[in-house]
Amino acid sequence: NLPVLFVTSRLPHHAQQRLEALAGVEVRQHTGTSAIGRAQLLEGVRDADGLICVLSDKIDSELIQAAGPQLRVISTVSVGYDHVDLDALRRHGKIRLGYTPDVLTDATADTTVLLALMAARRVKLALQTVANGEWGGGFSLSTGLGSQFTGKTLGIVGLGRIGYATAQRLLPFGVSRILYSGSRSHSGRAECLGGGGAEYVSFEDLLRESDLVCICCPLNERTEGMFDRRAFAAMKSSAILVNTARGAIVNQDDLLVALDEGLIAHAALDVTVPEPLPKDHPLVVHPKCTILPHIGSATEETRNAMANLAIDNALAGIQGLKDLAAEVTI
Ligand code: GLV
Ligand code: GLV
Repeated sequence: NLPVLFVTSRLPHHAQQRLEALAGVEVRQHTGTSAIGRAQLLEGVRDADGLICVLSDKIDSELIQAAGPQLRVISTVSVGYDHVDLDALRRHGKIRLGYTPDVLTDATADTTVLLALMAARRVKLALQTVANGEWGGGFSLSTGLGSQFTGKTLGIVGLGRIGYATAQRLLPFGVSRILYSGSRSHSGRAECLGGGGAEYVSFEDLLRESDLVCICCPLNERTEGMFDRRAFAAMKSSAILVNTARGAIVNQDDLLVALDEGLIAHAALDVTVPEPLPKDHPLVVHPKCTILPHIGSATEETRNAMANLAIDNALAGIQGLKDLAAEVTI
């Protein structure tokens, strides 16, 4: 009997072709165009030795139970793993967790810059005027004016790989200072940045001094809801907030109040709670809020690299190799 690998989504083209050609493993896959339902997931994972999953698949003790005792590896096609209950994996003791760092750093940093520019140049409103047949309505020599990053202070919450790549991309835009906060300093990385490097400061100082704040940290107990009313009150009223990390790092009720009261100028989000947000949600229709549907890593190149790494992790786990290509320590 071949070991079974259950895959919860269709993979990007090249990785899908590789998956279909795998020898020595029986691949089962949900290939529908919509995300797998919970019941189908619990059914599909039964008797699997390995699982390749995505962010929207909740990996908890119920799922581990449904799989059975032979499950050895969970391989998520994502860098974030807040959808995985690590305690449940620890209790089980024999399941390893693979993820996909590094390969999505550039694409996600690109998306962060994209959102920052969209917010600064009021692109949401500008696009709406074109779509509504009011070409540039509200934009004139003296009205509708945005801002630029030249001479401004950039604040990065979490100078990890993505935070660093974001700072690198924004330096050529002429930012004069880069601050970062987070649970620990990254002095090597901070010094490597051109333009005098990045300064490690408290979250409060970062909020008070930054013109552009980019959230690049993981979601955990420390970061959940850290952008709340107090945080927004500490920010500059001209500040732009960009979130390409996880929606739950921002308290959305407080964000709505902050935008309405002018505590900050604009929020640009690739991530929300829930995903998707309904189309009449007050943040979706808000003129000071730009929202993308969680497409941070959504390029052909990056998604194939992520899926390939996830296949490598799954195969290494099924074969019981000592090291996965990229493994979360649990
Ligand atoms: C995307 O959000 C990821 O964690 O890869
Ligand atoms: C994620 O990969 C990060 O370290 O920023």
